[in-house]
Parts: sequence; structure tokens; C-alpha cells
Amino acid sequence: MKGILLAGGTGSRLYPNTVTLNKHLLPVYDKPMIYYPLSVLMMIGITDILLICNKKDLIHYQALLSDGQQLGIHIEYRTQDNANGIAEAFIIGEDFIDNEPVCLLLGDNIFHSNNLSKEIEECTNLENGAFIFAYQVADPTRYGVVEFDHNHIARSIEEKPQFPKSDFAVPGIYFYDNRVSEIAKHIKPSNRNELEITDINKIYLEEGSLGVKEFGRGSVWFDTGTTESLFMASDYIETLETRQGLKIAFLEEIAYRNHYINKQQLSETIKNYPNSEYKSYLEKIIEK
Ligand code: DAU
Repeated sequence: MKGILLAGGTGSRLYPNTVTLNKHLLPVYDKPMIYYPLSVLMMIGITDILLICNKKDLIHYQALLSDGQQLGIHIEYRTQDNANGIAEAFIIGEDFIDNEPVCLLLGDNIFHSNNLSKEIEECTNLENGAFIFAYQVADPTRYGVVEFDHNHIARSIEEKPQFPKSDFAVPGIYFYDNRVSEIAKHIKPSNRNELEITDINKIYLEEGSLGVKEFGRGSVWFDTGTTESLFMASDYIETLETRQGLKIAFLEEIAYRNHYINKQQLSETIKNYPNSEYKSYLEKIIEK
């Protein structure tokens, strides 16, 4: 399965933080935001990844992540000219997807839980249809919202409804079969002039091939697109990391623990990192 990380958009809600720096490069506590969704892809075993960003930011992403070799993964880049909507990712990435199933992760979404990988990992076996998740929130009007019937089967999906039919938001992690690029090419822009991911999900729902799984109560999901949620996410990561002494979304650690790189490659990767808490943590892993 291929992976797409979407890191374009305007970041307007975080102005003026996003005037010079793309939203997904802003820090969430001790590392850039984009590390978090990338770490999820790596943890569920997706190592062939396309990162889509704005043209002017490409140079920054390449400087940060290069081609992924240092992490034992493969990262390619494409650019999006305008914020034409999330679903445009499948059109921009059509040749990369190359008729395989694909997982899309929004670059501003942060997921964390004890058994996150297990909850999500089984979706990487998807061959037909689509799979999305549902997460109970206090303010569903900000999100795509999924409504369930009595048997907990998805009945409807709406994008940012004024009067939501449920409290279940659809987080920014989506799995699709190899038809998704073709489907994306045929949907029409919405009232806000975007190709909506919700419209893709509706098509799979209508044909009866959309699976929806609820993230358990212990799972944490942040969409860090607003100042408040960005702060909350940073606070959460700081609390957990400080309390446990374990780090979240350290890409090099994940690469090592998942055997994408060995101990020697990890040493090589971090050799030129400046002296920092980040490097010290990784050095301790090598010593252990
Ligand atoms: O976070 C989950 C929500 O994300 C879903 O519940 C909604 O159904 C979905 O539409 C989306 O809503 P947002 O309003 O939060 O989307 P936003 O415009 O903030 O974009 C989400 C991410 O995708 C963000 O990291 C920027 C990136 N993006 C967005 C657009 C519209 C792009 O790279 N290109 C784009 O054209």
C-alpha cells in the first residue's frame, strides 16, 4: 500500500505563524508537525510515501526529510498549485499511486494511543472499497461528520454540517482502493470551491463499500489547524514525553524499531545532528 501525506493548504487560521513557515513545519512541542502523521504511516508499515506541498515550501520539506533513505523509507514529492481541496491529492498523486491501494494522511492530524498501530494496521490489507475512522468530539461542526444506524453501520457523511447528525467526526486518515484517483477526477468542487474528501467518502458509502471504525476512548486525535488545538497538541505531547521519558514520533526510533534501518544505520543517520535533547535520546536507544 502507498501512502500520501498532504501538507499544502494556506494555514490561514494560524496567521501570522504561517506567513513564512508552512503550517506542517511549525513545532508541536519538540518536533515539526509533519513528523506526527509521517510516524503513523511508518508505524503501520507504509514506507513508500508521497508528500504533497506548496511549491514554495518544497525546498524546506526536502531539507527536512530528503528522500527518506536515512529512515529506510522512500519519500517522493509533488506540489499543489492552489488549495483546491484534499481530494486533489489523488489526482496529483495518480502516477505515484500506480493502481495500488493508498492511505492518505492529513499533515495537520496527530494521532496517539496505546495500540494505535493495531487499530489502524489492518486497513493496510484493504484491496476493495474504502476505510475511514470516526472519533467522538464536542464540536462536530468543524469536521466531516459520520452518522450511524442502530447496527453501527454508517448511514450518512456530511462536510462541516451546521446541524450535525452525530458527534462523530471523521479524522484525517483514509484508506482507498485503486479506483480513488479516477473517482477524484469525477467529483465536482464544493461551494467553497474545493474537491472534498467527504464527497469521495460519500461515493464509497453509496456503493456500500465504505468501512467506518470508531477510534476507542483511549485514543487521542488532534487536528492542529487552529492556534488552540496546536497548543493543546503541544501540551499533550509535552506531558506524555516528560512523564514517561518516552518520545512520540521520533522518526529515527520508529525506523529502527521497525527494522527499516539497523543500529549502524541509525548511528550514521544521527552522526551529524547537532547536540540536542533529540540526539541524546536517540543515542541512548543505540546504547541500549
Ligand atoms: O482534520 C479532519 C478534517 O479535515 C475532516 O474531518 C474534514 O472532513 C476534512 O475536510 C478536513 O477538514 P479541514 O477543514 O480541517 O481541512 P483543512 O482545509 O484544514 O485541510 C486539512 C489538511 O489538508 C491541512 O493539513 C492542509 C491540507 N490541505 C488542504 C487543502 C484544502 C492541502 O494540502 N491542500 C488543500 O487543498
